[in-house]
Amino acid sequence: MVAVELERWEEHFANGWGFRPVASEEMDRLATYLNPRPGQWALDVGCGLGGCAVGLARLGYRTLAVDWADASVAAVRDRYMDAEPRLAVRRLDFEDERAVRELLPSAGFDVVTMRLVLAFMTDKAAAGRRVRSLLVPGGAWVVTTPLAERLPEERRYIGMTAQEVAELIEGWQQGCWYDLEPDGPRCFVLRR
Ligand SMILES: C[S@@+](CC[C@H](N)C(=O)[O-])C[C@H]1O[C@@H](n2cnc3c(N)ncnc32)[C@H](O)[C@@H]1O
Repeated sequence: MVAVELERWEEHFANGWGFRPVASEEMDRLATYLNPRPGQWALDVGCGLGGCAVGLARLGYRTLAVDWADASVAAVRDRYMDAEPRLAVRRLDFEDERAVRELLPSAGFDVVTMRLVLAFMTDKAAAGRRVRSLLVPGGAWVVTTPLAERLPEERRYIGMTAQEVAELIEGWQQGCWYDLEPDGPRCFVLRR
């Protein structure tokens, strides 16, 4: 799949466009797989307008939301000021190895979420290795993504191919998946 550059995301936010909203049922269902416990930390990568990040904070996680678009960071601050201090947001390009190492604590998170994000990353294997180093032992990587084969040709770039999915789950000790709705995006919960 092709990478969607930063300027296009900034433009997306500037136009006031959103993304598939995060329904409370989506977070409730995820919670049954994650079983959140007090004091745990979550990282939401590519947080967009912050729906998933605030959902994690409401589940009880101390949550850090990151996105490489300034407009996303501003929107999350604006919308969810009341969720502080449980929810913090920072600008970060998750494909920038050095920036990730400098900003994020190694083995610092119980869960890392990427909702509708991984398909847009240029090097998905490197992103996976980065996530692994950020998770505590037994921590979970949650990847929610459209599947390319379910999308019309012109929108396949927003989804992951079967090959990319196979590479995604390889090397994780445990994993399960479910669809948000029939033929909808798939949520993978992977544990190291
Ligand atoms: C389709 S939106 C999804 C937003 C949000 N996760 C949601 O589900 O509503 C993709 C988001 O990923 C962000 N993104 C893409 N590549 C990124 C990168 N390398 N580092 C950080 N954020 C990135 C974009 O700026 C955008 O906010």
